[in-house]
Amino acid sequence: MIARDEALALDAADPLAFARARFILPPGVIYLDGNSLGALPRRTATRVTDTVTREWGERLIGSWNDAGAGNGGWIEAPARVGAKIARLIEARGDEVIVTDSVSVNVFKLAAAALAMNPRRRVIVTESGNFPTDVYMLEGLCRLTGATLRVAADPLAALDDDTALLLLTQTHYHSGAVRDLAATTAAAHAAGALMCWDLSHSTGALAIDLTAANADMAVGCGYKFLNGGPGAPAFAYVARRHHDALDQPLTGWMGHAAPFAFEGSYRPGGGMARMLAGTPGMLGMAALASGVATFDGIDMAATQAKSTALGDLLLDLVAERCPGIDVACPRTARGAQVSLSHEHAYEICQALIERGVVGDFRPPDVVRFGLPALYTRFVDVWDAVDVLAGIVAHQAWRAARFAMRRAVT
Ligand SMILES: Cc1ncc(COP(=O)(O)O)c(C=O)c1O
Repeated sequence: MIARDEALALDAADPLAFARARFILPPGVIYLDGNSLGALPRRTATRVTDTVTREWGERLIGSWNDAGAGNGGWIEAPARVGAKIARLIEARGDEVIVTDSVSVNVFKLAAAALAMNPRRRVIVTESGNFPTDVYMLEGLCRLTGATLRVAADPLAALDDDTALLLLTQTHYHSGAVRDLAATTAAAHAAGALMCWDLSHSTGALAIDLTAANADMAVGCGYKFLNGGPGAPAFAYVARRHHDALDQPLTGWMGHAAPFAFEGSYRPGGGMARMLAGTPGMLGMAALASGVATFDGIDMAATQAKSTALGDLLLDLVAERCPGIDVACPRTARGAQVSLSHEHAYEICQALIERGVVGDFRPPDVVRFGLPALYTRFVDVWDAVDVLAGIVAHQAWRAARFAMRRAVT
């Protein structure tokens, strides 16, 4: 039996324990859903208020060139915040830009990959990938006449007509993590480009896109980067592809000279051409604050702590929650744990009512996100204690827990 004191001892020895003070967490809540919506950083309200009242309210349109207080101009923010994210994924600063949503960036990059590999007409992805990736690729293929191959074994589906392999590194449902370097090498061996969806990896794992020789990637701002609901996403393209990068949403912000108001499109240099329309500065300010929660944080330590939190959770569930099955790998797992039960939805609602917030993914999974910056070992112990009580007393059977909400 793992005692609560053992969890407290792990917290006392945790080298990342200090980072929890960078967040505001509501009392009485054990928040294990940072893989869906990261918690609120302590500095975000001040940062966003400053953008509203001083940068917008006082400096007005001048903030596009210089927002004052050492914040630089709004116009450079997509590249500036992108460069901060680059450190977290071992990319060069000019290889990452903040823009649009993950969905839109998947579309832009997959289209660019087809243009870079014009004699090949197939895009391969995996069945069970996060739906928006598949939906966006379906739309792109409808538009271009390219073929989407959705395969259970995507590496086996590569052939000499494959232009692009697009995969999610950390699976949203199971938390299973793919080997970046080995998978990228397999794509390259087949003559395909590799695009990674790093939505559940960025801010959670130690990622090295440069060592993996990745071509392209997208990632999410509102999960482990703590950028706030609907935060802008990011796109990565390796420098070696910048000159050939040709994405189809050729808006004025991606133009070489947006304020020359030329009659026809000329792409901007490097990642600037990934932009389409005007970036939203309120969301950008919140994202900048979220990314700043990683200042001075070592990503290897982050990954190690999340793995240890997940291991503890799985050990406690095995010990105390009969009838709950494990729906995630024991190793090579992201900063989440997935458990399954026929009544997972109801169990998830019963947990939330008791202040333990995870989420439900159909058909039968409860996910617990374990962001290293603010999750404590004792939170995991207490959460499983609550879960064990719900299972033992079948508390999930109360009729109110079966009511389905719009967001699960
Ligand atoms: C793997 C993955 N890709 C993409 C998305 C969607 O990103 P966006 O809402 O920015 O389009 C999500 C959202 O949960 C996700 O988990």
